[in-house]
Amino acid sequence: MRTRFVKSSENNTQIRIQPCSLDQTSTIFKIASDTAFFGEPVEIYLEDRNLFCDIFYRYYITFQIDVSLVAMINQNVVGFIMGCYDTKIQIKQWISSILPLIMKKTVGGQYHFGPLTWHYLFALCRQKMVEKKQVIDLSVYPAHLHINVDKDWRGLGIGEKLLQEYINLLKGKKVVGVHLNTTDQNQAACKLYEKMGFQLIASHSTKLWSYWLDHLVEIRSYGLRL
Ligand SMILES: CC(C)(COP(=O)(O)OP(=O)(O)OC[C@H]1O[C@@H](n2cnc3c(N)ncnc32)[C@H](O)[C@@H]1OP(=O)(O)O)[C@@H](O)C(=O)NCCC(=O)NCCS
Repeated sequence: MRTRFVKSSENNTQIRIQPCSLDQTSTIFKIASDTAFFGEPVEIYLEDRNLFCDIFYRYYITFQIDVSLVAMINQNVVGFIMGCYDTKIQIKQWISSILPLIMKKTVGGQYHFGPLTWHYLFALCRQKMVEKKQVIDLSVYPAHLHINVDKDWRGLGIGEKLLQEYINLLKGKKVVGVHLNTTDQNQAACKLYEKMGFQLIASHSTKLWSYWLDHLVEIRSYGLRL
């Protein structure tokens, strides 16, 4: 059942949304890791947080810090939103800069590859080879995003504030649309996107998580024209 909290405007908690800075990297990576498995910690499916953060978040800290926002309460980062204006550029930069970094660290033995990681990598390869590919029209929805709020601070309107500020940022740069990928397991996230006007633009079932969950997961892509 959904837990309801008192909204920030009602209890005087001051939530500030501000640009992200490099010295917040470790906190952002911690929140990302703590919420990676459908809102639960990444260790459920990958042993090494550093590997997870390098694959999924290093790019944004390195190349898109000016498109990244954090939610602050007092001096603490309690949530973030990261993304990019142009997903085609992001894919190219990830392949040319982040992938070599990950390979170098892998060869240098800097990551712990345990049984969970091998299960995940195997399932990912299977998904890429066997399952239908989700095709998003990047001329309509060029930007994308990732949003996470610390478990202790959910339900206070922080996700909505982060998303609204991010949309304003994109509009200010004349970006024509934004998309994101989530799943039917992220119910709060789906409700948030729908509340903010996003529409479901693609979906399909995946066996990617079958080792961890006893049912198929629906991957959902939402898009918003700006
Ligand atoms: C999704 C997430 C970012 C929402 O952040 P949040 O600060 O808790 O959300 P808000 O308090 O701003 O809620 C805004 C709206 O989202 C929806 N929502 C938020 N929590 C919800 C919940 N537990 N159940 C159903 N809807 C929920 C509601 O529509 C809500 O509006 P309302 O309060 O008027 O009903 C946060 O739950 C989270 O980080 N989850 C784990 C990680 C994750 O799933 N990230 C997204 C991956 S795609």
